[in-house]
Amino acid sequence: MVPEEQNKALDAWQTSARYWDKHRVLIAQMFAPLTSGLVEEARIAIGQDVLDIGGGSGEPSLTISCIVGPTGSVMYTDPVAGMLESTQAEAGRRGLTNIHFRQCSANGLPFADCTFDVAVGRLSAMFFVHPAAAVREALRVVLKNGYVAFAVWGPKEANPFFSSISDVIDKFLEVPPQDSDAPDAFRFAVPGTLAGILEQADAKNVTERQLNFQIEAAISFEQFWQLRTQMSETVREKMARLTPAQLPTIKQAVADAARRYFASGTMSFPAEALIVSGRKPAI
Ligand SMILES: C[S@@+](CC[C@H](N)C(=O)[O-])C[C@H]1O[C@@H](n2cnc3c(N)ncnc32)[C@H](O)[C@@H]1O
Repeated sequence: MVPEEQNKALDAWQTSARYWDKHRVLIAQMFAPLTSGLVEEARIAIGQDVLDIGGGSGEPSLTISCIVGPTGSVMYTDPVAGMLESTQAEAGRRGLTNIHFRQCSANGLPFADCTFDVAVGRLSAMFFVHPAAAVREALRVVLKNGYVAFAVWGPKEANPFFSSISDVIDKFLEVPPQDSDAPDAFRFAVPGTLAGILEQADAKNVTERQLNFQIEAAISFEQFWQLRTQMSETVREKMARLTPAQLPTIKQAVADAARRYFASGTMSFPAEALIVSGRKPAI
């Protein structure tokens, strides 16, 4: 990505920050299985110092802060000021004192070599500017034998939480073909892609775990529609290109496509993610 595109992407995340803050409780609840997967794969335990890369509205930092406890610590990082500020405010409301904050990109981590026991990133690696360089950075700042672990989405077809909206909108718009390596939620959906990057960066014991779970919350279709059309820059940008007359038709088509995921006042979408992890070599 050229610097102009990088700035545009960060501006979009800055706009997203207020919605990720607004929906933080739902986001934490819906994607909690991803945090559990990262904690398990990276063997996060009491007393550890953990780096969170691209922490967004606070996960997994806020959960891990409670797992590592007062003898451990979490370093939350994100390049977007709005994300950092909202998480800092939430940590303050919860009285968490073992979380520290740095505004930075995954590509330039402002930490000395071998600073952390573990580095994790939940749903952020797909947006890194240079994933290979960022993975090398993550390995640089963990201790020898330390784990790095990233949670990324599996294929779009296995994730109707996303596709139920985008498949409908895309029928109404000209969508130019996208570079498969451009930052996007499904950039690492093909098994082996991110694992290959870890291997190239000399991580050892690289594993890729497929995680199937339900994205669940006690919300209506109307609340889901609001959540999805606010949180995602991709959806916001596409919605802005639709005519006012197209909107009700599209919303109805999405409601029809998503009906089976809403029953008795609860939303439940099947979802597929990959937890990709590896360890820094001992020598
Ligand atoms: C989909 S959100 C995930 C946030 C959070 N980890 C979660 O799971 O709820 C992606 C995050 O990656 C961050 N991000 C974007 N570009 C990044 C980069 N180059 N380095 C690190 N983080 C980045 C965004 O600011 C955003 O907070």
